[in-house]
Amino acid sequence: MKTPIGQVFTPTEWAEWLINKWHIFDAWMDGAEICDPTAGQGAFIIALLNIARNHQIPLTPKHLSRLTLIEIDPSLIDNFKSFVKQDFGIDFPPDQLFCKDIIMHSHDKKYDILIGNPPWVNFSDLPTAYKTELKPYFIQEGLVQDTQKLLLGSSRTDIAALVIKVVLGKLLKEKGQGYFYLPTSLFFGDGAHSGFRDYQANKRGFSIDTVYEFTNTEVFEGIQKSYCCGKIQIDSQQTFPIPYFREMGENWDEHIASPLKYPNDPWRIVKNTEELNSTDMFDIHLTPDQKPRQGVNTCGANNVFIFDDKPSHLPDEYLYPLTTKEIWRQLTGTPHKWILLPYHQETGKPLDWNSISKHDTLMNYLQDHKEVLQARKGTLLKASMNRIGWWVLLGVGPYAFAPYKIIWEAYGRKHFNPIVVSDIDGQVWQANQAMHAYIPCWDENEAHQVRTALENPEISKLLRQLNGSGKCNWAQPGKIKKILNMKNAL
Ligand SMILES: C[S@@+](CC[C@H](N)C(=O)[O-])C[C@H]1O[C@@H](n2cnc3c(N)ncnc32)[C@H](O)[C@@H]1O
Repeated sequence: MKTPIGQVFTPTEWAEWLINKWHIFDAWMDGAEICDPTAGQGAFIIALLNIARNHQIPLTPKHLSRLTLIEIDPSLIDNFKSFVKQDFGIDFPPDQLFCKDIIMHSHDKKYDILIGNPPWVNFSDLPTAYKTELKPYFIQEGLVQDTQKLLLGSSRTDIAALVIKVVLGKLLKEKGQGYFYLPTSLFFGDGAHSGFRDYQANKRGFSIDTVYEFTNTEVFEGIQKSYCCGKIQIDSQQTFPIPYFREMGENWDEHIASPLKYPNDPWRIVKNTEELNSTDMFDIHLTPDQKPRQGVNTCGANNVFIFDDKPSHLPDEYLYPLTTKEIWRQLTGTPHKWILLPYHQETGKPLDWNSISKHDTLMNYLQDHKEVLQARKGTLLKASMNRIGWWVLLGVGPYAFAPYKIIWEAYGRKHFNPIVVSDIDGQVWQANQAMHAYIPCWDENEAHQVRTALENPEISKLLRQLNGSGKCNWAQPGKIKKILNMKNAL
């Protein structure tokens, strides 16, 4: 295997913690067959051996015959073998060590219990050749409907979702259980993980039984994703609500989890069923043109398109004020940044080269950065560049030039604070990529009405229940769409 895929190993103490939480050691002693399907250097199996040693339980060949490791990277299996030999004086049975890709290769045996920590990597960050090989499996497991979807919104789908579905469906005996450390995005991601939440693995139903979400403890050092651990039951139908524990200081604060509306929706976390049933409906009327949107995306070329001061050498008609945190903090209407959009305001379409060449300064400026702009990556962007030209951006259309925007901070916040923005000297404000989201409006009164309706404190409350506080998906357009969809189909 050339590129390591998600090699973040579980510290032994946290492998032991998970084993103790769900009495997995006792199950092993009582005869359960246990497998770590993405075993790395074997942290979970070593933790089981450790517990036996601490209890002074001699390990018999029978005990060992009920432990299996599967891992794609042969060097990690070698590390495991040497460690177990050195630390426990055990020659681990070689026929229980499998070096294979558990997604793509078959496996004959089935187990009572799966434990571990699957790789957590967004589909878009996987090596290109591996992505191509994995696509059919993402589709087969219902994680995306087609390859096109994988290229578009669902590229944030985590390989963890695929690995979990594959191993539950392929490796568990009837009514077996899985216990894993997992990224919480499987339960709270809007579009990308709704396919995980069909609770089906290889035509077998599975249900999430209990979840523990870490909020303070760094189980995995330096990992930015938010994570949890959970018990999953195969051959079982998912019902809600389920117990959901959130780390609070030294304790685990008990909550319940239930999907927002439809079974495959992201989960809400609330204290009790009364709270679950008390949500108001939101009476906000939006047309299909007013779909909530993310801001403009330069696709890695901020230094070409975005300026701290309005550049005097470029034509005013293509320069737009760009929202920054100051407009919420200081309530100031003064732009702190400007963005260049070589687009027709009336249609939202990119300028063609002929139109660009009518403005010498614009043409020279873009030409000077042609190489950098052409080298930008991304399937969607590439398709757009091939169709139109290397000067395009993403997230620009007629909506970007609507005279009013109800705009809010969508990323990493704890308060939902939509405001109405219009223009500076006729140039409308633009939202900045995933930081800001907005609803376009073509009528000022309507913009203020929608803003007032969005200020309903129930929306903030619901966003917090959807577990986005302080996270990257705090109030992203998909989530706001879902919330508004509670009454109005967009
Ligand atoms: C997050 S690590 C966890 C390892 C171990 N379970 C632990 O907790 O320390 C995930 C492991 O999965 C392995 N892996 C990635 N893709 C795999 C695949 N398709 N089949 C088997 N193993 C895989 C990686 O090499 C890595 O060692």
